[in-house]
Amino acid sequence: MSVDMLTIPAKCVSESRISELDYNNIEFGKIFSDHMLVVDYKDGEWQQPQIMPYGNMSLSPATSAIHYGQSIFEGMKAYKDANGDILMFRPLDNFKRLNISAERMCMPEIPEDIFMQGLEQLLRLDAAWVPPTDGCALYIRPFMFATDDFIGVRPSSNYRFTVFTCPVGAYYGMPLKVAVEPHYVRSAEGGAGYAKAAGNYGAALLPARKMQERGYHQLIWTDAKEHKYIEESGTMNLMFVIDGKLVTPPASTTILKGITRDSVLTLARDMGYTVEERKIAIDELVEAYKAGKLQEAFGTGTAATIAQIATIHYDGLDMELPAIEDREISNRVAVALDKIKTGKVEDIHNWVYRISL
Ligand code: COI
Repeated sequence: MSVDMLTIPAKCVSESRISELDYNNIEFGKIFSDHMLVVDYKDGEWQQPQIMPYGNMSLSPATSAIHYGQSIFEGMKAYKDANGDILMFRPLDNFKRLNISAERMCMPEIPEDIFMQGLEQLLRLDAAWVPPTDGCALYIRPFMFATDDFIGVRPSSNYRFTVFTCPVGAYYGMPLKVAVEPHYVRSAEGGAGYAKAAGNYGAALLPARKMQERGYHQLIWTDAKEHKYIEESGTMNLMFVIDGKLVTPPASTTILKGITRDSVLTLARDMGYTVEERKIAIDELVEAYKAGKLQEAFGTGTAATIAQIATIHYDGLDMELPAIEDREISNRVAVALDKIKTGKVEDIHNWVYRISL
């Protein structure tokens, strides 16, 4: 079947739900924009993309994604600039990462034109849902899942790629208390930790809940072999400022290669800070803390943006970190990143994809 990418056919809502949205009080992930993009893969080909009203999908109980987890997703954001243009942040990087996840989960790659044109048309149609409010954004959720109704274990032959969007405020409303996970493991070398696969998140829920019951918002994952080195946190990559240097675990097959992570490292380097991507032992953090050299800790992610960490718990010790306002590197980078995303400064890294309305 030939895919007509000139204009994706759209079946539009008869009445928008936008009046349900209070721009000054947006909770993360609870209200969804009017439309979604849907594209099916069958007979070895992607079919004609379609835009339709956001709504339920009908699925067979035997849908293979539900049983065996061939399900991957992305998270990205769009903002409005002062002229009302829509600015998507680094969508091509999300496109590439989705296909890296697809490869790992034995799923077909999504073509760039379907991804990009689908996004552009969807965002044009739902432009009113991109919040102009400071600190808010339109969160974009592209995802793909296996749709064979077959319960044998093998890669599905049919898939669905969908994109829906939702206006969001902050994911974490306050500086976080996190604790180092001493027992459970998120990902091991040779596994699928670098893929944005739904199962990675499902398997993390029980350990996270146990930490929450102990009074922490999130946990810090450590390496699968020794529980000695820092990996990432629930929905974020992790960064620390130790003795004036920005330090983060290296990209590897066990952690998600965050796009916000890369943006923060790039901006910090631009500002002249020393950046080190290297293994960080928990013992190093404790020693730095005791010596007064652990100056900042924060998470990075699309949803989380830059999420400050107030407390890190490890082995009976609550490390209380310096006040948020004293954190030079993360605060400077957060402001610079926000200005790029909202078109307030020149985008020298070519990260912004502009949709002029
Ligand atoms: C994101 O930061 O976009 C994520 O995907 C994390 C989470 C909301 C699952």
